[in-house]
Amino acid sequence: MFEHIQVAPADPILGLNDAYRNDPHPHKINLGVGVFKDENGATPILKSVKQAEERLVENEKTKSYLSIEGTEAYRQAVQTLLFGADHEVIAKQRAHTAQSPGGTGALRIAAEFIKKHLPEATIWVSNPTWANHQSIFQSVGLEVGSYAYYDSTAKSLDFEAMLASLSQVPSGDVVLFHGCCHNPTGIDPTNEQWAQLAKLCSKQGFLPLFDFAYQGFGSGLEEDATGLRVFLNQVQEMLIANSFSKNFGLYNERVGALTVVCESAEQADAAFSQVKRCIRANYSNPPSHGSAIVTEILTDQHLRSLWEMELKAMRTRIHEMRSLFVNTLRAKGVTQDFSFISKQQGMFSFSGLTPDQVAQLRTEFGIYIVGSGRISVAGMTKDNMEPLCDAIAKVLAD
Ligand code: LMR
Repeated sequence: MFEHIQVAPADPILGLNDAYRNDPHPHKINLGVGVFKDENGATPILKSVKQAEERLVENEKTKSYLSIEGTEAYRQAVQTLLFGADHEVIAKQRAHTAQSPGGTGALRIAAEFIKKHLPEATIWVSNPTWANHQSIFQSVGLEVGSYAYYDSTAKSLDFEAMLASLSQVPSGDVVLFHGCCHNPTGIDPTNEQWAQLAKLCSKQGFLPLFDFAYQGFGSGLEEDATGLRVFLNQVQEMLIANSFSKNFGLYNERVGALTVVCESAEQADAAFSQVKRCIRANYSNPPSHGSAIVTEILTDQHLRSLWEMELKAMRTRIHEMRSLFVNTLRAKGVTQDFSFISKQQGMFSFSGLTPDQVAQLRTEFGIYIVGSGRISVAGMTKDNMEPLCDAIAKVLAD
């Protein structure tokens, strides 16, 4: 029965993680997967998370099922974080949120919902985009197109080309935007550019789907929601897939959410009933622990401010590593300009390293970078910076 099945290629990001784990190199460095590391190279559990967990263990009374969409408290907390407490969308009950297994789970449910209810829609993703986007949408049979985003010569957003591409997207199609900290480039639209994109979206009549996995990793919780909120002022309908893997460090708890925004409360009820059907047919209902942690932190003043401090510390450390990386390369005599890296946001940068250079870094130095040249700045530390920059200087000179 199974003799015809071929071995699938390794996942470009998580497959790299497995290869890193098995690499005996004594000084290996993992800049592949987007996971935050502290200055010791560890991915610690946040103090706010630990404290919330202690309370949960103490107070938990049942392990019975959650509802298909997760708890009311979690769903409200997510909406407040996305929209801000007093947003009209919340007051008019135009949005419904379902807990999901991470941001990926939210995207998968969104994909199924789109395929079922907008079967003719093509979904447009930025070029480049997160390596898993294509797979998620193609796996439900959606057509995936790409819109211009990155200028590889200027190492910046090619906004004119982006506008030109999106002006061709017809009404009824779906466009995926990275809410902040674009993965893999680290380059986001400015506030003015978000406003232009929202106007264009309203004019063209396409549906925006925000992938919002890094809220708080760019400039701050509120600042990072600017693009999404600018869109909300222009358009009546939207899908948002958000994740708490990074900003709460809850990677292996798989906690995120899918939010559907509609024109009216009635439409939101109808659309959400269909989202719940997709969930029921996939994993029935979500796990409790991760979302309970997030709810506990977001709804308690002490835990919330502790978490915001910890989030700020993570964001600041990454910004520091960006500058240190650029300065260390310069100090090692690298003449190629890497200063763009210190201007970017979030965990990632598109380094401009070629596939050959990426391969050489791995085989000669045990340094793991995604094949596209994407580096996770969050994996850099003061300790690994010197050997990392020595190796990059060497491969650039070869
Ligand atoms: C990444 O892009 O490295 C992260 O979002 C982890 C993943 O699932 O790919």
